[in-house]
Amino acid sequence: MPTVSVKTLAPNEKDQIFEVNQGKILFDELELQGLLLPHGCLAGSCGSCRIEVLEGAGNLSPLGAVETDTVESIKKNYCETNRSELVVNKNIRLSCRAKVLGDIKITVLK
Ligand code: FES
Repeated sequence: MPTVSVKTLAPNEKDQIFEVNQGKILFDELELQGLLLPHGCLAGSCGSCRIEVLEGAGNLSPLGAVETDTVESIKKNYCETNRSELVVNKNIRLSCRAKVLGDIKITVLK
């Protein structure tokens, strides 16, 4: 089973570690284990479930058309609001669309 490590935003807290079913949606797998990530539509269009993939980006399913459009929109919005350092050259994904294929480390993107 792949491992998902979730880096918390609190400075002194340890990462949360979850074993998840391979090939399943990241958001769903974490919710089943009690970690409810920020979310909205759960359909890939609102961007509320955005995450940064810190390690193992290649261990997620490829971006589909809907996720690609939403991630591009998120990056554009961050750049327009002078927060480009949070998204430029970062692996931004949507937890409601990405399927876990191997070990990853993520953090919520505020
Ligand atoms: S919850 Fe809306 S894009 Fe994931």
